Amino acid sequence: MGRIICISNQKGGVGKTTTAINLAASLASAERRTLLVDMDPQGNAGSGLGLKRENLTGTVYDALLGGRPASELVHPTELRFLQVIPATPDLTGAEVELVNQERREFRLREALLPLKDKYDYIIIDCPPSLGLLTLNALVTADSVLIPLQCEYYALEGLSQLTHTIDLVKQGLNPSLKMEGILLTMFDARANIAHQVVDEVRGYFKDQVFQAVVPRNVRLSECPSFGKPIILYDIKSKGCESYLALGRELMRRDSPKPSKRRVA
Ligand SMILES: Nc1ncnc2c1ncn2[C@@H]1O[C@H](COP(=O)(O)OP(=O)(O)O)[C@@H](O)[C@H]1O
Ligand SMILES: [Mg+2]
Repeated sequence: MGRIICISNQKGGVGKTTTAINLAASLASAERRTLLVDMDPQGNAGSGLGLKRENLTGTVYDALLGGRPASELVHPTELRFLQVIPATPDLTGAEVELVNQERREFRLREALLPLKDKYDYIIIDCPPSLGLLTLNALVTADSVLIPLQCEYYALEGLSQLTHTIDLVKQGLNPSLKMEGILLTMFDARANIAHQVVDEVRGYFKDQVFQAVVPRNVRLSECPSFGKPIILYDIKSKGCESYLALGRELMRRDSPKPSKRRVA
């Protein structure tokens, strides 16, 4: 069964979508069957992987409210092991339309369930809010990965997010785990960046990923080419950091098998 990780932080611009795309691409480049699901009406996860809006045959909206099977909404990408269920701005309406639906918090979970064993990893990109779309993602996920920007106010709003996660654990999804905190947009020349790293590591200890994503202009360029960093500039520091993050995750999931002699 695949593992479902949602990338969440209700703050905008902290690197959620960049992380969703490039973590998914890193896992796929290691031949892990990976699905990226876009739950943000901005739709940047699909466009960042080269999908053109006019060519989409369906979006996550159709699964949440249109009754279409998720398998029909899966689109290929340039990477053989990476597929994506995209989103478009009509997903904004879903937030309101879901309110009156039965089992409104479980729509995404029920839609993705039939796909779970087709993938090793399903990565969900969340919108910058704690509304019903994010709630659906948290109810679907096995774990949450929280990107934190290495800047002033990095921790602002984090307690709201952890409170929401706790509420979900108490009710809708008791098995939800914390995957970890990912420090993003680290600028080694800025004192504040080092302070944030120290503070976050001091407080959250081993819940913080070893991999730290640097501020790297190549990462901000590649979405306009519709490519993950690994297909845009594999030698960049940004690419190195997301490959390291992917390895860290995979190591957790499959610790090295003990050496055995083949009979
Ligand atoms: N490590 C990074 N270095 C430089 N620019 C980045 C980095 N991560 C993200 N960005 C840029 O910052 C902006 C916000 O990132 P994004 O991933 O869209 O955040 P979110 O999804 O949390 O709103 C985007 O323009 C993105 O290209
Ligand atoms: Mg985003």
